[in-house]
Amino acid sequence: MSFLIAFLSGDGVGPEVAFAAKRAATAAAQRCGIDVDFVECAFGGAAIDAHGAPYPDETRAVCARADAIFLGAVGGPKWDGADVRPEQGLLAIRKELELFANLRPVRIFPGHETKSPLTPSRATGVDMVFVRELTSGIYFGKREEGDDVARDECSYSKAEVERVARVAFETARLRKGRVTSVDKANVLATSRLWRKTVSALQETDYQDVALDHVLVDAMAMKLIQAPADFDVILTENMFGDILSDEASVIAASIGLAPSASLGAGKKGLYEPIHGSAPDIAGEDKANPIGAILSAAMMFRLSLDAPEAADVIEKAVADALSEGRGTADIGGPDGCDALARAIADRIGR
Ligand code: NAD
Ligand code: IPM
Ligand code: MN
Repeated sequence: MSFLIAFLSGDGVGPEVAFAAKRAATAAAQRCGIDVDFVECAFGGAAIDAHGAPYPDETRAVCARADAIFLGAVGGPKWDGADVRPEQGLLAIRKELELFANLRPVRIFPGHETKSPLTPSRATGVDMVFVRELTSGIYFGKREEGDDVARDECSYSKAEVERVARVAFETARLRKGRVTSVDKANVLATSRLWRKTVSALQETDYQDVALDHVLVDAMAMKLIQAPADFDVILTENMFGDILSDEASVIAASIGLAPSASLGAGKKGLYEPIHGSAPDIAGEDKANPIGAILSAAMMFRLSLDAPEAADVIEKAVADALSEGRGTADIGGPDGCDALARAIADRIGR
């Protein structure tokens, strides 16, 4: 059995962390006897420069037949203000493949409690996963961009809320059995539909899962105050974007946070949650662990190879516990050295 991976390294630190993850994934595949074929595809700003479009047809064709898609990151100041932006490629890929559920786990590694900006006692026990709706809401509503007036419409259908809520409840069943649904139901119509739909689904299909609703502003506060209280956090598109960046640093650095974007089938898009980090790009400073853990999620969720996911996750945990790490977590390594150290441990 051979798996085809569309490999979209992108811009800024994207290629640095994506190649680090490919190194880890290749080592894990070899160790577990799995055949993976990475096909490099132009994407993001690099694709705008080379082909005039962030998601060229050749890339689209590879993604269509791939078992999974792996992405570094896209964007950067070079393309800010341009008519076509790298980020449009990312939104298109998510939408066209209907990858509506974005899983973003945030966990504190043992010994990293002192690396959190929060007090160690608050950071202890942090282990949550965001289930963020990814193909609707304000990101994909009608847009009007005038010089005097601009408009971004936010809409949700009941079916769109239901399918992502189902992923959250199913995820909670495999964890601590608690879902916190985030909305702004005191102001927004979409949030009132969101809350009603999530409650009704819990009532009919998931009475074994505990559900509560928290307004997004209060959630921003509670994540700082008591982050270890949360298990599965269900959000609409933009709230999840914002809160997951906030939550990631509670576990020391955004550079550690992976993600998986899933639809109805097996195919998924895997990427660290961070962006192209233009401030450190090209300096071998980026933390590759978010990308490497995204590769682990890919093995588990799209390639039915949990043993490969396990060896990657164990190698990351071992390297960190042995004091390895990049500067963002107070470690001595560059991106490349840390990736080699992790790949080495996978091969042992
Ligand atoms: P960013 O996530 O790129 O960077 C935010 C901060 O986190 C920066 O200080 C950066 O140095 C740091 N950081 C990010 N990744 C890191 C890593 N792996 N190791 C260590 N530190 C890391 O967010 P931004 O600066 O707001 O955005 C830059 C560009 O990236 C924008 O064009 C944005 O649209 C794009 N972006 C892309 C994605 C994606 O491709 N999925 C995600 C977010 C932002
Ligand atoms: C992310 C990014 C994207 C988003 C951007 C680059 C379109 O911030 O993956 O979190 O907002 O979803
Ligand atoms: Mn984001």
